[in-house]
Amino acid sequence: MSARVPTSKLRVGVLASGRGTNLQAIIDAIEAGTLDARIAVVISNKQEAQALERARRHGLTGVFLDPKPFAHGSNSREAYDRAILDVLQKHEVELIALAGYMKIVTPVLIGAYPDRIMNIHPSLLPAFPGLDAQKKAVDWGVKIAGCTVHFVTEGVDEGPIIIQAAVPVLQGDTADTLSARILVQEHRIYPRAIQLYAEGRLRIEGRHVLLAGASDPATGSLINPSL
Ligand code: GAR
Repeated sequence: MSARVPTSKLRVGVLASGRGTNLQAIIDAIEAGTLDARIAVVISNKQEAQALERARRHGLTGVFLDPKPFAHGSNSREAYDRAILDVLQKHEVELIALAGYMKIVTPVLIGAYPDRIMNIHPSLLPAFPGLDAQKKAVDWGVKIAGCTVHFVTEGVDEGPIIIQAAVPVLQGDTADTLSARILVQEHRIYPRAIQLYAEGRLRIEGRHVLLAGASDPATGSLINPSL
């Protein structure tokens, strides 16, 4: 994939199913001027999603697209994604950001937006893909957990990794306390990943996402328990 040519403000379509704190982080970054993009539309598969409420509060278009009418037949997920695609195209969306979107996207969307769909996942992928990643991390006993922004491919949580943040797992952590610690970092890295894309600084080569103009990496390490 070649990098985006940043000739106009990036138009982002956000897909969200729930409370929408990552959507909020993206909105906040745009309003603070650290993310040079526009949210063209927010789409949810859940009518009661707080994400839709957040969109409307900020004067953004929020669309509830009910999956039920599409639930029959063997291609129901594809049919639903075609309806999503219609809305995205109507709003001239260039990049799709999945933000707590709890449906698997089909090749219908991936084919229409190749290398132009991002997702945030609450683990250091490839560890703990799928649901309940933070609980899986606690149950496994890992000492370091975190979150990942990646491009979306057909394999669930398998696409090329753009940015990751690590946090320690503390003794006595529950899925809830760990989730809260990870979420703080999600809100930092997701707007950042979108900004890097908007600037045309991301290029995919195989599994690798190359960053143009990267500054020197932080050399400190996160060692847990500390030495
Ligand atoms: C976030 O923790 C996000 O990483 C996770 O759902 C939460 C949504 O929160 N996504 C997944 O688990 C995707 N597999 P939010 O609605 O407050 O942004």
